[in-house]
Amino acid sequence: MASKLFITKSFDSLAREHQNSQLKRTLGPWQLTALGVGATIGTGIFVLTGVEAALHAGPAIVISFIIAGLASGFAGLCYAEFAAMAPVAGSAYSYSYATLGEFAAWFIGWDLLLEYMFAAGTVAVGWGRYFTSFMELFGIYLPTSLTSAPFASPDGFAIVLTGNILNLPAAAITLLVTYICYVGITQSSFVNALVVAIKITVILAIIGVGAFYVNTDNWTPFIPENTGTWGEFGWSGILRASGVIFFAYIGFDAVTTAAQEARKPAFDMPFGLLMGLLICTVLYILMSGVLTGLLPYAELNTAAPVAVALSAHEELRWLAPFVVFGALAGLTSVVLVLILAQARILLAMARDGLLPPMFSAVHGKNRTPHIATLVTGGVATLMAALFPIGILAELVSIGTLLAFAMVSASVLILRYTRPDVPRPFKVPAPWFICLGGVFSCGLMAASLPLDTWLRLIIWMLIGIGVYYGYSRHHSVARKEAAQQ
Ligand code: ALA
Repeated sequence: MASKLFITKSFDSLAREHQNSQLKRTLGPWQLTALGVGATIGTGIFVLTGVEAALHAGPAIVISFIIAGLASGFAGLCYAEFAAMAPVAGSAYSYSYATLGEFAAWFIGWDLLLEYMFAAGTVAVGWGRYFTSFMELFGIYLPTSLTSAPFASPDGFAIVLTGNILNLPAAAITLLVTYICYVGITQSSFVNALVVAIKITVILAIIGVGAFYVNTDNWTPFIPENTGTWGEFGWSGILRASGVIFFAYIGFDAVTTAAQEARKPAFDMPFGLLMGLLICTVLYILMSGVLTGLLPYAELNTAAPVAVALSAHEELRWLAPFVVFGALAGLTSVVLVLILAQARILLAMARDGLLPPMFSAVHGKNRTPHIATLVTGGVATLMAALFPIGILAELVSIGTLLAFAMVSASVLILRYTRPDVPRPFKVPAPWFICLGGVFSCGLMAASLPLDTWLRLIIWMLIGIGVYYGYSRHHSVARKEAAQQ
């Protein structure tokens, strides 16, 4: 019985899955890079940087970005090896099915719901906030009852009513983006490329123009002395901040879920994945350096640190509306790619029988997994409309760290269990990179609060319940094994 939990899918069946895919193969290396950047640059850089610099790391937030970037780089290289050898839509879920077995795959698939679907809802709430500020630039003040969640969770567990009706802007953007994902991958990729171009232009303008107004005194001391409490400045503060701003890197791996829509996955996947990550890392390091140079770090503890840092300089105020616009564009593409990615993982899980078959339906004309897209978008819309985001964001980070650690471990295991499978891209120095991925992600996860761990455990227990209640009875791999 227990051995069935470890039943694996063969690499041959993954290859067949790729060949028989009905999804449309239109994406080239730069479109995939744009998808990666689209999913990645968002709330992390536009919101969290300031708070973490002010409360935990000071100007050394730049080092936090380097640490989180390194951990993501280790995991990114591992994802690249897998995505080139098994270009299937299920990403980390499918990779673990082929290496660690069905139960681990289910575990990761369920965990990825946190990374993609929950994150889409979370980022949509951030979008709603920027939208409200954008309207205020034109003197339009939206009522709080229509821009805030009706539920709140002051202690992180109990849910209380706030008296608000719903977060309408957050729900509206999620619905709009769901519609685009429903219509087609070409349209989605086009809208994504457009908004990515806007957000990169805005970020380059902030870095390029802001650099001339940096006061290097603001960078001294670069690593403020620890206050005596773990996590408040000093090296422990840098580590703690890296666990939180890791959120800024979430999403680059979403590219792998478009593997069946890539023209030449063996080259395009590693390229799109690693180039996207490199672009984001460089922009984050430069942007956080400029921000902490524009204003003393203690003054950056605000929901809109970029706008605040620019507004502190008379000559830079003209950039503020563009920043709000850039942030809106940035967050839109994050929601878009996360919904795209989630729908493709549901499709892969349903094809394997672990979820009901409706999730694997592909629309005849649009050639998108339309039902999975509508369900993902629907749930993300409800979350965005009704729930507060604070707790969700940390859950998203811990879920992603878990997925990254498992992918890194799987790559190493597979080097020994299936050395024969052709690998168009190989992780260099696998022991160092793969174990580096496992340990750096584990270290950042350990720096997150205990209640986040508890929520993760509750979520995973629910997942195990669904596995025993539904998935294992419908598993295609089990049925095939029984027939042999
Ligand atoms: N990395 C994405 C963001 O920062 C989730 O919004």
